[in-house]
Amino acid sequence: MSRADATGLTFRQNHFDDPSDWAALVSLLHDTFGIDIDPLRELGGPDPTSMPFGWFTADGVLAANLTAFAMPLVVNGRRINAAAFQSGAVRPPWRGRGLYRDVTTKALAWCEAQGFEAIILYTDKPALYEPYGFRSLALHRYEGEAPDAVAGMPAQRLSPRDATDLATLRDLLSRRTPVSETFAVAANAAMFLINTEFNPDARVSYLPDHMAAVAWTMPAAEHFCLLDVVAPEIPSLAAILGSLGISPAIAETRFRPDKLGWSGEAMPLEGDTRLMLRGLDGVLLDHPAMLSPMADF
Ligand SMILES: CC(C)(COP(=O)(O)OP(=O)(O)OC[C@H]1O[C@@H](n2cnc3c(N)ncnc32)[C@H](O)[C@@H]1OP(=O)(O)O)[C@@H](O)C(=O)NCCC(=O)NCCS
Repeated sequence: MSRADATGLTFRQNHFDDPSDWAALVSLLHDTFGIDIDPLRELGGPDPTSMPFGWFTADGVLAANLTAFAMPLVVNGRRINAAAFQSGAVRPPWRGRGLYRDVTTKALAWCEAQGFEAIILYTDKPALYEPYGFRSLALHRYEGEAPDAVAGMPAQRLSPRDATDLATLRDLLSRRTPVSETFAVAANAAMFLINTEFNPDARVSYLPDHMAAVAWTMPAAEHFCLLDVVAPEIPSLAAILGSLGISPAIAETRFRPDKLGWSGEAMPLEGDTRLMLRGLDGVLLDHPAMLSPMADF
């Protein structure tokens, strides 16, 4: 394997504490993917386990980056000490010089040294990661007739930009139980919070009876879509609908609904984005499932 051509660039890792380096990452992701991660600063900051690997120009421009962070998961009923990769990008003038291969190799070595059992990532370019042992997982959502709502105390809308609501959400995120035993995030606050910014259609509601926050959308008048449930114990889908005060015809969940007292039909998730997994000795999911979109990264 040839060495990367990093002429004129300086390598830095673990650089989020420096405000100008954070700004350089915000700029790289804006220019590459058209997304703005800067609001994370007002939502409690980037994930504290983040370990970015980056090549910088003398002017402080981030030319190439890949960030690893801890993403503990539940897979087939077992808690997995997993990491995730995100923010992988190289600015056009520096592409084709091996810089992405370089940061990928460094991030993999760091994960190995940290003792992570598995690594996951989302990509629309699986060929980029297959040489490193990543494999794509089939993803499924669930859909079916909605259960009859069970009445409960009315839900309250939460706004993560409001300090009190943010504190409530962060508290629940720190105490959550996985939303599914088949495949779910076991602990991670930052991705849920930034996804409330990235997905303006997602409403977050607090169910006082259940001390639960639910993220949901209504893709059509009679169609309820549950994205995630953040709670020490997962309430039933009937109780969630009751607290929200809605009686849709169709219910959909963007995770396996094994704790909801309801089951729909598993349907393949549409779209080009793949979830890739490295490690766990070729393990496949025991049941059709996907990670909540509130865990997207
Ligand atoms: C994809 C991207 C990160 C590659 O960066 P790069 O610095 O040009 O990559 P490198 O020169 O280090 O090449 C690394 C390897 O990936 C391969 N590769 C590069 N672009 C690829 C692509 N689009 N699809 C598949 N493989 C690709 C290279 O052939 C090389 O293979 P090798 O190790 O066998 O030689 C860069 O083009 C980019 O930022 N694109 C837009 C954002 C993006 O897609 N990021 C990845 C999201 S998951």
